[in-house]
Amino acid sequence: MSENQESKLYEPSAAAREGAHVSGMAAYQRLVDEAEADHAAYWARLAREFITWKQPFTQALDDANAPFFKWFQDGTLNASYNCLDRHIEAGKGDKTALIFEADGGEVTRTSYKELLARTCRIANGLKSLGVKKGDRVVIYISMSVDGVAAMQACARIGATHSVVFGGFSAQSLRDRIEDTGAVAVITADQQVRGGKHLPLKAIVDEALALGGCDSVKNVLVVRRTGAELPMTAGRDLWMHELTAQQADACEPEWVEAEHPLFLLYTSGSTGKPKGVQHSTGGYLLHAALTTKWTFDLKDDDIFWCTADIGWVTGHSYITYGPLALGGTEVVFEGVPTYPDAGRFWKMIQDHKVTIFYTAPTAIRSLIKAAEGNEAVHPRRYDLSSLRILGSVGEPINPAAWEWYHANIGGGRCPIVDTFWQTETGGHMITPLPGATPLVPGSCTLPFPGITAAIVDETGNDVPNGQGGILVVKKPWPSMIRTIWGDPERFKKSYYPPELKGYYLAGDGAIRDAHTGYFTITGRIDDVLNVSGHRMGTMEIESALVSCTELVAEAAVVGRPDDTTGEAICAFVVLKRPRPTGEEAKKIAAELRNWVGREIGPIAKPKDIRFGDNLPKTRSGKIMRRLLRSIAKGEAITQDTSTLENPAILDQLSETN
Ligand code: WTA
Repeated sequence: MSENQESKLYEPSAAAREGAHVSGMAAYQRLVDEAEADHAAYWARLAREFITWKQPFTQALDDANAPFFKWFQDGTLNASYNCLDRHIEAGKGDKTALIFEADGGEVTRTSYKELLARTCRIANGLKSLGVKKGDRVVIYISMSVDGVAAMQACARIGATHSVVFGGFSAQSLRDRIEDTGAVAVITADQQVRGGKHLPLKAIVDEALALGGCDSVKNVLVVRRTGAELPMTAGRDLWMHELTAQQADACEPEWVEAEHPLFLLYTSGSTGKPKGVQHSTGGYLLHAALTTKWTFDLKDDDIFWCTADIGWVTGHSYITYGPLALGGTEVVFEGVPTYPDAGRFWKMIQDHKVTIFYTAPTAIRSLIKAAEGNEAVHPRRYDLSSLRILGSVGEPINPAAWEWYHANIGGGRCPIVDTFWQTETGGHMITPLPGATPLVPGSCTLPFPGITAAIVDETGNDVPNGQGGILVVKKPWPSMIRTIWGDPERFKKSYYPPELKGYYLAGDGAIRDAHTGYFTITGRIDDVLNVSGHRMGTMEIESALVSCTELVAEAAVVGRPDDTTGEAICAFVVLKRPRPTGEEAKKIAAELRNWVGREIGPIAKPKDIRFGDNLPKTRSGKIMRRLLRSIAKGEAITQDTSTLENPAILDQLSETN
């Protein structure tokens, strides 16, 4: 592997190096050294440079109550002021902030001035309903100018937003509303994806009807399609009616740096999804800093991150990072395959996108599409505006990397393979495009100031070339602050006592013996990564067994998949005799839909297999490793002598 890595180095071109914010490895190393010499002073310098503070902070890091770290604690700021007003004050009010392209292709440009006005109207509307600093607001909306403005509006008045991805079911939405205790939900009548109109407000109604959401006083509905909707009097309001009467200026609420900017739910290995709590000051600093250094963002760039605002990537690299820097970005409502699989390439061409950031799953599916249909091959489009490419969410396999590099980047654009997590707020391990020589499939080196390392189960460093557990040794400004309402779970999940106070990422990793580069080897817990979406196997198991009429027992594992990275494979024991043939297919389809309703379509198992039992040890523990082998279609090499009924292995190998 090491020899391979060195022979595959892609050095940054002179063009990539020239004028880059971080140009050359010596510049990278200087930053790493500066952080190492005085960690807190390094971050304090950057926090002063990147953030406009209302009241400057006097202390960078407070670690008195570790692992509940505090950054820039006595400073006050407002995130929306930093993303909008300050650029207007600097004379950039007419600069385009958002180039919004709707599913059907209509394009709307929103300047900084206009985005501020929209944000303030929504902020004032929220205030008129009594929403105030510290309240939580759930946002369940698709990609839109109003989606971004709604997040900014919450930040403006000090309300903590929690965006729920529009693909989650009513049940999942209900759970999040209840956990946050939100006072308001912002949604749209419908969402438009791939030419289809899909419900949003109707799902909010269904979620609220499920109960446990008494905290919600108002539902604000953005008009997207004009669909006829029942509106509950006294609770539901049209956003355009509410905001029509509002002023387009709103004094920002200056909040302490530690004030929770947002909660975002993500899956863990046990229990329900956890509400990851992020701060205002430290989070915004890293979102801005990484946008600048990792993407080398300049004033005239057209940046496009294809993520949804329902995920952390959409928070850091759509709503906050690019706007904090006064950049211009594309916001896309639709899907990469509509009206055809050339949509991304056409949009890059039309908007002259210079920096493009997407997920390996999208790349892999577009490779397939391009290979099957010359009309949507990227060579049919003018992609010469591009200068930097990015990848996020899951490991990018070297073949997809090479294709992306050659066909989208024309062989000239560096690819930044950014490793990070919902919990980390921003990039942790990533190349810097004007500095780091690249290796396909490796996220290369830690971002300056991020003390990523690989250790064994007792927290001791492992030598390069030997895999281990990925940790971060020192706290950093944009780290998760706690799990909303469950500080104990936060400590247990991320700061297990045996790891010497290091942050546990939950991924395995290995450093190359020669280059020292990091390669992520995948999760070390029961978290799956399907199309870049995080899912807990336990969550899907609970959803399956909650179908009490049918299901007696279920076990869920992941198996590698060429397009989605990992695929969900469920092994199910029914309360009735094991079905076969058509009946098995019918029940499998029913269960898939069940999981879709319980969690969301993204959690539907690809494979469902039925058995009379599950393989268990004598103590009754499900042998998941065995199930993983079966899911992959591998020959069983494990010792199966302890199994009560080895014949079930054959049963479980049959797909439906
Ligand atoms: C995985 C998404 C390899 C990893 C920003 C991590 C990656 C989880 C990469 C977080 C990458 C993310 N290479 N693996 N470049 N980026 N991952 O919270 O397993 O949705 O722990 O955040 O995705 O997923 P999350």
